[in-house]
Amino acid sequence: MSSEPLKVLVFAAALRAESLNQKLAALVARVARDSGANVDLAMMRDFDVPLYNADAEAAQGIPPGAKTFRDRLIANDAFMVSSPEYNASMPGTIKNLIDWTSRFRAQPFDGKHGLLLSASPSLGGGNRGLWALRIPLEHLGSRIFPDMFSLAMAHKAFEGDRIADATLRARFEKNVQAFLSLAEAAKHYPCMKRAWVEFLGEPPGAGDDRVDPVPS
Ligand SMILES: Cc1cc2nc3c(=O)[nH]c(=O)nc-3n(C[C@H](O)[C@H](O)[C@H](O)COP(=O)(O)O)c2cc1C
Repeated sequence: MSSEPLKVLVFAAALRAESLNQKLAALVARVARDSGANVDLAMMRDFDVPLYNADAEAAQGIPPGAKTFRDRLIANDAFMVSSPEYNASMPGTIKNLIDWTSRFRAQPFDGKHGLLLSASPSLGGGNRGLWALRIPLEHLGSRIFPDMFSLAMAHKAFEGDRIADATLRARFEKNVQAFLSLAEAAKHYPCMKRAWVEFLGEPPGAGDDRVDPVPS
């Protein structure tokens, strides 16, 4: 069994300089480091891509921002993303990045464990957006942790760079550590799944099968 530390990509799906989600991402990165993980803390601007356009893809290929995201996803065992909620869903920027990145084969999201977090000034903490974000990620084969963390009234929730309320802080840390334990276990005990299939249940057919075998 390898004793190599777990490698985790952490980023906020936000571009704003004073982003609350960026603050939460920095905090989750610190908790993960304190728990022994190797953290790759990224910025959303590292993954800058134009709006998805199949003609642009055919002419110029997949843009560098999506390649960078793919490379950092596959270099890590797991990912943690803190995403704002926009209009009860995820921001278009993160969906657009997922769409571009999903065009790579092998499918870079497949088999990656993911933890979803959000921060919002609202009482819901942006949690509805995470239910939306979960859908494309799970469709692409990621194993999204059931317990998501949404920081409500986030503009008032921090005391310096930590969560002010001690009970909430303990819940947050427990949530992150539970996720890291699962990702750690999965790193040493990989599941038997051998292929990502774009549309389960489609009649199999040579030529148009969208099946992406996972190299053993
Ligand atoms: C277009 C838009 C839509 C928004 N919709 C929601 C929403 O549905 N729910 C919510 O809690 N906050 C919503 N907000 C407020 C954001 O949660 C708030 O601006 C938050 O600080 C954004 O994240 P950031 O601080 O990481 O940039 C919205 C903000 C914008 C700009």
